[in-house]
Amino acid sequence: MKVTVVGAGNVGATCADVLATREIANEIVLLDIKEGFAEGKALDIWQTAPINLYDSRTVGCTNDYARTADSDVVVITSGLPRKPGMSRDDLIATNAGIVKTVTENVVKHSPNAIIIVVSNPLDVMTYCAYLNANMPSSRVFGMAGVLDTARYRAFLAEELNVSPKDIQAVLMGGHGDTMVPLPRYTTVAGIPVTELIDEARLNDIIERTKFGGGEIVKLLGTSAWYAPGAAAAQMVEAVVRDQKRIFPVCAWLQGEYGFSDIYLGVPVVLGKNGIEKIIELQLNEAERALLADSAEAVKSVMDVLDNMNANA
Ligand code: NAI
Ligand code: 2OP
Repeated sequence: MKVTVVGAGNVGATCADVLATREIANEIVLLDIKEGFAEGKALDIWQTAPINLYDSRTVGCTNDYARTADSDVVVITSGLPRKPGMSRDDLIATNAGIVKTVTENVVKHSPNAIIIVVSNPLDVMTYCAYLNANMPSSRVFGMAGVLDTARYRAFLAEELNVSPKDIQAVLMGGHGDTMVPLPRYTTVAGIPVTELIDEARLNDIIERTKFGGGEIVKLLGTSAWYAPGAAAAQMVEAVVRDQKRIFPVCAWLQGEYGFSDIYLGVPVVLGKNGIEKIIELQLNEAERALLADSAEAVKSVMDVLDNMNANA
């Protein structure tokens, strides 16, 4: 299996490292636009192979898409972080330009790849990749829910002093503070979480989860990479090993949950064909209202991109 990771920055390099160390792919190509950057990161990762005892090969290249040819999966992490003085619309315009060019190049050399988008703003960058990929939406989707759910599960494990392995949860909606963690679908080794934790404390954890990305930015001055990189790699693994894992994924909705023409986080089955099924939960009225708010927030950002494209 061949996997390309575009963007050899913090998230991209971490994702490549996890893919290699866990032998999720036997060939990993790291590509970046910065001269020599991906080559350097790939060389460093490859030199961990004799220490960590694996044989997946990681190579780097500077913007040379021929090296990515015939990839089975491509992870797109290229993009700029928001800088002081930059408006949200400036960020969308800049990153949409990057994601568009990257997607076109990726598809030219790997027409049968599955594309997983990580670049922010996540939901609209996934939409941007879809608009430029000319592929079925089952093959173009975004990573956010696996990360957001991992944060929620980690906070719960810490609160309950239990293994994070035993926490199962579903989280829906956009990647932002309107995301919708679902306590009704959160269990600890099969026990509903609401039997183990009081409502006020659970609400605190949900609020912390919604702002989990910002918490790390405040501490580090830049956004997270260990968990995002590992989350993207876990999605790649589900595809290349045809695992049929159920993950919250940013997926193109056509009527599911009453929404159409929108990329939104929903539970799906991930396997060798990408999104093999979108799972429709029976949400109650309050959950539906939260999801509708989140969809509205995502749609408003998608509209910014549509308007930019219309005026281009
Ligand atoms: P970073 O700045 O460390 O790395 C980004 C890399 O993209 C840089 O090395 C840059 O040279 C490269 N790049 C820029 N334009 C390119 C192009 N046209 N072609 C190829 N490479 C190009 O940033 P980091 O921390 O790795 O984050 C990457 C993206 O992922 C950001 O947009 C960030 O906001 C997003 N992110 C998304 C998460 C999610 O849950 N979906 C979680 C964490 C980060
Ligand atoms: C995160 O959630 C900023 O999207 C990035 O860490």
